[in-house]
Amino acid sequence: MINKLKNSCRVCNNSIEIFMNFGDMPIANNLITNNTNSTLDSEFKYDMDVAFCTKCACFQVTNVPNKNLMFNNSYAYFASESKEMINHFYNLSQEIITKYLIGPDDYILEIGCNDGILLKNFSDQKIPHLGIDASSNLVEKAKMDGINVKCAFFDDISADEIENEYGKAKVIVLTNTMHHIENCNAVAKAISLLLSKDGVLIIEDPYLVDMIDLGSFEQIYAEHNFIWCLSSYSYLFEMYGIYINDVKHFDKHGGSMRYYFSKKLSIKSKEVTFYENVEKKNKINDLKTYVDFKEKSEKICSDLLKFVSDKVSKGYTVCGYGATAKSCTILNYAKITNNLLTCIYDSTPFKINKLTPGTHIPIRDAKLIKEDQPDFTILFAWNHKSEILKKERLTKTTWIEYIPEINEINEN
Ligand code: TYD
Ligand code: ZN
Repeated sequence: MINKLKNSCRVCNNSIEIFMNFGDMPIANNLITNNTNSTLDSEFKYDMDVAFCTKCACFQVTNVPNKNLMFNNSYAYFASESKEMINHFYNLSQEIITKYLIGPDDYILEIGCNDGILLKNFSDQKIPHLGIDASSNLVEKAKMDGINVKCAFFDDISADEIENEYGKAKVIVLTNTMHHIENCNAVAKAISLLLSKDGVLIIEDPYLVDMIDLGSFEQIYAEHNFIWCLSSYSYLFEMYGIYINDVKHFDKHGGSMRYYFSKKLSIKSKEVTFYENVEKKNKINDLKTYVDFKEKSEKICSDLLKFVSDKVSKGYTVCGYGATAKSCTILNYAKITNNLLTCIYDSTPFKINKLTPGTHIPIRDAKLIKEDQPDFTILFAWNHKSEILKKERLTKTTWIEYIPEINEINEN
């Protein structure tokens, strides 16, 4: 059930430095449906260590559970729950349509297309596209929206099938997906075979430098096998003849980077040089950087536990907002369970009335927060802060954020 790493880097096989242990962790998106003692007792857990590689700068989780345990017919994250993310991917679709999808046989392949948040923009305009995703519940939803989608893991076999049926792809996109893929070498190789010689590969996911800077250690959980950066992506893809030509930084998910790759080595934008320097300045190859990050993370956990325990002992109700995968890491690491938090509000129908993994906190329909009026609400979906606070402006509660430190949010 666990694919153990044996202390060597998944990208370059160098020995790695394990610098942090989270202890026993459940799978972040495995929400509990059946609230019986036997389901709670038999919950799958794995010992989560994290490490980095001094050679290729790759930040990685060491013991990764088997992918079928994480990506299956009950994957809980539906990207289209956020209007901001819908806009974000609409903008990306317009850029792709105008810049890259020009020839009559051009099509876009999205690996890990989730509920079709990006591809919907292509299907609406009848532009050739294909999505692939391993979670059947997401694929069903995407299909209902008219998106051309295949339910499978992306690997050399599915890449071959795609090439036989559709030919080489002009555009391949992975948004918030590549960091889920444990077997990154095989996937990078399959991408290089499927991408046309004048094609573009676009990858976007949480950016390592931002995570270290903010202390947002919650980005680490088994589905996020890796937290990538320019240096580690360059190292990986250059082995397969694919080079980073440009990057764009976004505030999404606490800091994300979009990387544009092609088979052309010669092009490198000013932004790429800028972020190469950022990574050098932030010493992403240095053990001390990660030891400091660990200390910062532990302080965030202990401060949050102290805050919640203190309020609960004084008789206040404390709830959460956003049953995010990120919250699974902090709640389990800080040991904030259902004896402290009353519930976590969330708008995702699939999550409502289930329990959070490991900590068994009830997930309650976000619509009910207005009438419940908890004294304190911890914003676990802090990456959607402006959207949520706007939506909940009439809700009477004190909103709390905890990254980089505990703070009462006073929005006016
Ligand atoms: P997100 O932070 O995007 O992902 P992750 O699970 O990778 O950490 O998850 C946001 C969660 O917040 C998701 O469960 C939906 C929920 N949500 C609301 O309940 N209301 C909202 O207005 C928004 C934007 C999100
Ligand atoms: Zn390495």
